[in-house]
Amino acid sequence: MSVCIGIDVGTSGTKALAIDAKGRVLAEASASYPCHHPKPLWSEQDPEDWWQATVKVVRSVVKQAKLKPADVAAIGLSGQMHGSVFLDRNDQVIRPAILWNDQRTESECQEIERRAGGRKRLIKMVANPALTGFTAPKILWLRNQEPRNFERTTKVLLPKDEIRRRLTGEYATEVSDASGMLLLDVVKRKWSKTLLEKLELDSSLLATCYESEEVTGTLTQSTAKKLGLTTDCVVVGGAGDCAAGAIGNGIVRSGLLATSLGTSGVVFAHSDQPEFDPEGRLHTFCHAVRGKWHMMGVTLTAGGSLGWFQEALCTVAKGQTVPFETLTAEAAKTLAGAEGLQFLPYLSGERTPHLDPHARGALIGITLKHTRGHVVRSILEGVTYSLRDCLSIMQDLGVPIRQIRATGGGAKSPFWHQMQADVFGKPVTTMVADEGAAYGVALLAAVGAGNFKNITEACQATVKTAQEVKPDAKTRKVYDRAFPVFQGLYKALKTEFPRLES
Ligand code: XUL
Repeated sequence: MSVCIGIDVGTSGTKALAIDAKGRVLAEASASYPCHHPKPLWSEQDPEDWWQATVKVVRSVVKQAKLKPADVAAIGLSGQMHGSVFLDRNDQVIRPAILWNDQRTESECQEIERRAGGRKRLIKMVANPALTGFTAPKILWLRNQEPRNFERTTKVLLPKDEIRRRLTGEYATEVSDASGMLLLDVVKRKWSKTLLEKLELDSSLLATCYESEEVTGTLTQSTAKKLGLTTDCVVVGGAGDCAAGAIGNGIVRSGLLATSLGTSGVVFAHSDQPEFDPEGRLHTFCHAVRGKWHMMGVTLTAGGSLGWFQEALCTVAKGQTVPFETLTAEAAKTLAGAEGLQFLPYLSGERTPHLDPHARGALIGITLKHTRGHVVRSILEGVTYSLRDCLSIMQDLGVPIRQIRATGGGAKSPFWHQMQADVFGKPVTTMVADEGAAYGVALLAAVGAGNFKNITEACQATVKTAQEVKPDAKTRKVYDRAFPVFQGLYKALKTEFPRLES
């Protein structure tokens, strides 16, 4: 049997699933862990938590699908992007990993642009401007703020690549996730020696960079034993969670776009050539499809906004919160536009379109009439407007849009699915099996194992669209009127946000 396993090391938890040679899901499991915020706008996690969760979920799928060790041919890895795991020469983790939604590196971003000779030159080298969430600014932050830790650092790995190290003993990454480090020449798909020199960073800090379906190693003896697998099991490059999710939903041709609503929100477009937003609001990264690229806009706190509201304000007993289904049902009973209540989802600062680490969340326009349902509705609407911001930039840049596929939590809720169509003013399609990033990298593993010729063929054979919903003309009008108000509120508050920090 040629079973493949996909593992996604996410922010709220790790998920694994096993697929058979035809791409059918045999079993899946997930395990969660905490995210720490030692200061406002900081985000950290303990890589050991990711590893413990990985062992647990892989063992669980092996057990559920009753797999014999030799059944599993390949593993694909996906994970939250941009996070930094700092390792010393004995492979010990030096400090907690700094995550994609952490905003501590503003002055390092300025330093990178200065050293590169300005933003335009930097974009020429690595296709993107310096953004606080990316990895290179985190490395400079360590050098500037924790020099002792920096001196001890011999490798910097992305979250899924730290898991790969523990699985295989190899320091390896692949082009899609490496793009988000801001150290990859995205056009040439190789580390940028020029930028590394300008930043005075040694290239030995970085892992070997592969294409996404390439084999990067095999399981070590002790890991194979621990997971109930064999040392013949190969581990392929995999992909950052955005590219992996896109593969899992068949975004492998020009004209196809995905919106994904998880902790973060992403609008993702495949492109045959590297295309750039001159203002750097959209990211240009390598796709997990060999020789292809993608553009994406990122809302840092999408599902995370609803998660925050639920955790912070909807606790009914210790450790027990009002379920999402109840909250969304309450929201569905209120009117579109939440009777003038607006929510800005910038709880961790924002990337697209504002590139503003100081931005904060806001709930504006509260009256005595408003209920919890209105608040939830305004959160969902605010997050969806933020995705519309990303989509509008793509439209302005002439990115072809033939079909929008909704994925993640925003597609599972019929209410949020319809809201996306109404806010975008375009039909939005869901997928038959929206298994997300873990499924995407299981398919890449299947290509690595030889079950499919290439990833495009794998997607054609396995990924199917489900239901298309069209915008409702009346509701669309409400959102078309509310959207400029949403945009205006950020502009009005922009200069006030930094003053909240002092
Ligand atoms: C993408 C990004 C997020 C994380 C979340 O650039 O920062 O989507 O990958 O897991």
